Amino acid sequence: MKTYKIACIPGDGIGKEVVPAGQQVLQALAEGQNNFRFAFTSFDWGGDYFRQHGIMMPDKGLDELRHMDAILFGSAGDPHIPDHITLWGLRLKICQGFDQYANVRPTRILPGIDGPLKRCRTEDLDWVIVRENSEGEYAGVGGRAHQGHPIEVATDVSMMTRAGVERIMRYAFRLAQSRPRKLLTVVTKSNAQRHAMVMWDEIALQISQEFPDVHWDKELVDACTARMVNRPASLDTVVATNLHADILSDLAAALAGSLGIAPTGNIDPERRYPSMFEPIHGSAFDIMGKGLANPIGTFWSCVMLLEHLGEPAQARRLMQAIETVTANPALHTRDLGGSAGMQEVTDAVCQFVQKIDQRQRAA
Ligand code: IPM
Ligand code: MG
Repeated sequence: MKTYKIACIPGDGIGKEVVPAGQQVLQALAEGQNNFRFAFTSFDWGGDYFRQHGIMMPDKGLDELRHMDAILFGSAGDPHIPDHITLWGLRLKICQGFDQYANVRPTRILPGIDGPLKRCRTEDLDWVIVRENSEGEYAGVGGRAHQGHPIEVATDVSMMTRAGVERIMRYAFRLAQSRPRKLLTVVTKSNAQRHAMVMWDEIALQISQEFPDVHWDKELVDACTARMVNRPASLDTVVATNLHADILSDLAAALAGSLGIAPTGNIDPERRYPSMFEPIHGSAFDIMGKGLANPIGTFWSCVMLLEHLGEPAQARRLMQAIETVTANPALHTRDLGGSAGMQEVTDAVCQFVQKIDQRQRAA
């Protein structure tokens, strides 16, 4: 029997609720299966850890994660600690430490979910945004000098490397190639940013030649926001820089009905290190501890985790259970206009996961 070692890092806010819910669902999947099981290890890193130790995670923390098969992450963010400290001290430390250079964000309007776009049919919106996750605007390059003086200066330098752009383009073209429409949109801003983004465009053209069966086009990031709203069906796979994709993916999640549903994977495609899966919503302090959080973003992230582990049948089983639950408005949480609690939704997903298993065994 295969044992998958999963590191669980709830982090802050509602992360502490949705990660245990994710574990419960994974556990339900594994129940009664004789070919795999999960061994979970939880880490109490985040804002509370910072208050005790002055750091978000231990210096040698990455070594504790290195031999895991995957990481399930909640969120990092604390109203009493500056955001750049919580982010760089935990989530980015893991993403960059493990060179998880591909951030993958699928978006679909799930059954039963009412998106805000009037003319958009469910089948019109089926996107995967590939976010460059190791450099660009999040490279961390820059500095401040003369603080507090009138001549104070501060820079955040967006740094792009040929190696970094080539690998994310190759990943995006390959992903586009694996999807039925074989359609990729390369998001850029090379009209205004005349160095790195021009290189980005050149490399897109170069890599496209390795994938003659992929149709691709280029779109400026500002125009892309309008296209997502006006012509959603014209998009399928989208690749963009770290910051551009950060912004586009929030728009994508909102257009699909709620930020509470959207999943993400921080992937090391070369599998040198564990990859990390997380809902894209933040720590949501306003609703923390109340059992109101929508766990679907975490469950969908678990689907991505299962795909990454090489368990496509289990991933499909969980996705089917999720869609059965979203189809029922009585099981919608508050962000979707419903009144169901997180535990109710979690229990329902666990039940369907087991029902689907019985049906598959009977067939
Ligand atoms: C995301 C988030 C983060 C990001 C925040 C929490 C810094 O918005 O995963 O999209 O910008 O990377
Ligand atoms: Mg974001």
